[in-house]
Amino acid sequence: MSLFRLYCVVEMVTYLRVCSHFDALSKQKMNYFHLQKRNLNKLLGISAYFHDSAASIVVDGKIIAAAQEERFNRDKNSAVFPSQAIRYCLKEAGITLHDVDDIVFFEKPFLKFERLLETYYNNAPKGLLSFLKAMPQWTQKKLALRREVRRELRKIDSSYKDQKKLLFASHHLSHAASAFYPSPFNDASILVVDAVGEWATATIGKGEGTKIELLREMRFPDSVGLLYSAFTYFLGFKVNSGEYKLMGLSPYGDGKSNETKRFIELIRKELVEIHEDGSIQMNRPLFHF
Ligand SMILES: [Fe+2]
Repeated sequence: MSLFRLYCVVEMVTYLRVCSHFDALSKQKMNYFHLQKRNLNKLLGISAYFHDSAASIVVDGKIIAAAQEERFNRDKNSAVFPSQAIRYCLKEAGITLHDVDDIVFFEKPFLKFERLLETYYNNAPKGLLSFLKAMPQWTQKKLALRREVRRELRKIDSSYKDQKKLLFASHHLSHAASAFYPSPFNDASILVVDAVGEWATATIGKGEGTKIELLREMRFPDSVGLLYSAFTYFLGFKVNSGEYKLMGLSPYGDGKSNETKRFIELIRKELVEIHEDGSIQMNRPLFHF
């Protein structure tokens, strides 16, 4: 790729260089993450049970409709199954669930559950309350996601049969695909900087034609997005919601003031180490997630 274009999915920060601190993904994992864009079919994409549930319909490689559930149920950042968004997308596309070839969920629940268990195990007994609060939803819904999604789809269309494929893409592959495939580029570098998916918090990959490969990743708990959320929480806003307020407030800051410089110094000294390659290492004992 001589004219390597940089196409970024940036939720928090903008520039990282490929270097040693990002873990290289094994060949096996690379293949695992490898995605072939499929043409001439009807795809239903679903995001649910995390935050900002949404649905989209792609027909023959074109996005026909996409919507967030909160637009229909008026519940900001709604995390419920996006039934109304799916209905809307199907209507816009002029198709029914029977016409959909593949259904794709935006992340891999078992890998995410593994992260939750490992995080709790490493920090126990700290975090017991939030762990106990999260468990019922995991055992009742998220670990039986295939069954749960199909049950919800049957509520949308009682004649819906389960024979359609239900695929689970990794969280960062979903981000990468949502940026690269609709982009005007045939090849591109792909950078995803997120809070956290299953384990990955930032990934570097490449897109060529119909293929996407994720090559390197930074892993939980080191995360630019979670660092941003920690500041959101520290300033009294709601996590996974109030971040936009922080962004809105940032232009009012004075980057040249001595106070700002003192904070930057303090953050770099006490909270987070920024490596040569742009990856970060957080001072873990100071964060509660
Ligand atoms: Fe994400």
